[in-house]
Amino acid sequence: MTAGGSRGFDARVAHPARVYDYWLGGKDNFEADRIAGEATIAAYPAIRASARANRAFLARSVRYLAAEAGIRQFLDIGTGLPTANNTHEVAQSVAPESRIVYVDNDPLVLSHARALLSSSPEGVTAYLDADLRDTDRILELAADTLDFTQPVAIMLLAILHYIPDLDEALQIVARLVSAVPSGSYLTISHAASDISPEEMAEMIRRMNEHLAEGNHVGRPRDVVARFFADVDLVEPGVVKVTEWRPASAVEAEGPTSLWGGVGRKP
Ligand SMILES: C[S@@+](CC[C@H](N)C(=O)[O-])C[C@H]1O[C@@H](n2cnc3c(N)ncnc32)[C@H](O)[C@@H]1O
Repeated sequence: MTAGGSRGFDARVAHPARVYDYWLGGKDNFEADRIAGEATIAAYPAIRASARANRAFLARSVRYLAAEAGIRQFLDIGTGLPTANNTHEVAQSVAPESRIVYVDNDPLVLSHARALLSSSPEGVTAYLDADLRDTDRILELAADTLDFTQPVAIMLLAILHYIPDLDEALQIVARLVSAVPSGSYLTISHAASDISPEEMAEMIRRMNEHLAEGNHVGRPRDVVARFFADVDLVEPGVVKVTEWRPASAVEAEGPTSLWGGVGRKP
């Protein structure tokens, strides 16, 4: 389904999904993305490990939501290119009946959406080609797949830092949270401006030189915490993504440039 997401396909400029794929060691990227990937790695060499840590946070948080919080519906906005442990794979490995709606505005993600639509027979996956800023449209289309009278986990991983206006980003999150019932969850990871601040500032500056929209921003932990204003944070709160319920001490100590957290709507 299309909701005004993709604005046409241009392999000559870097796109967030494809640079992220390059950091993760994927193959779904073009020369412009690889140039941006190398420029950003040169500024902040830990970015590759940080991207992997973000994927590990996604898997741990989805597992927590499905196994411990009993969530069976996921709205994953800013999905990224298919990789290991996509949201539906983790959720449906715990609860095969889980229903997942993926949303992204990158045309290459759309062209790979089939890999995201490999639902278990008991569950459902759907894909929306839409922009996070078209929040009402996303909610309207997602209602074809998700029952908004039942709890939904809203997943906003490594996407809000592409909405540079803080008030706009806060309003988008508030609108999403307002649309889901009590017992729903909000999961966020977000580029930090106060972890390795000098390297991150240079990494983001270089990223913006290469992105078509040049809209990447880091934010400090206290600002990222404001996105959780309408939910109750579950332990351990807003922390480095590596420190959110890590599987091991080694994982907790790994490099990251992202804050992350999970909250429950009361
Ligand atoms: C860094 S990737 C993160 C992928 C995945 N959420 C993860 O954390 O592993 C960011 C994704 O957000 C998407 N994105 C960025 N801005 C967006 C917007 N305004 N609307 C929809 N998707 C957007 C990009 O296309 C990209 O796929």
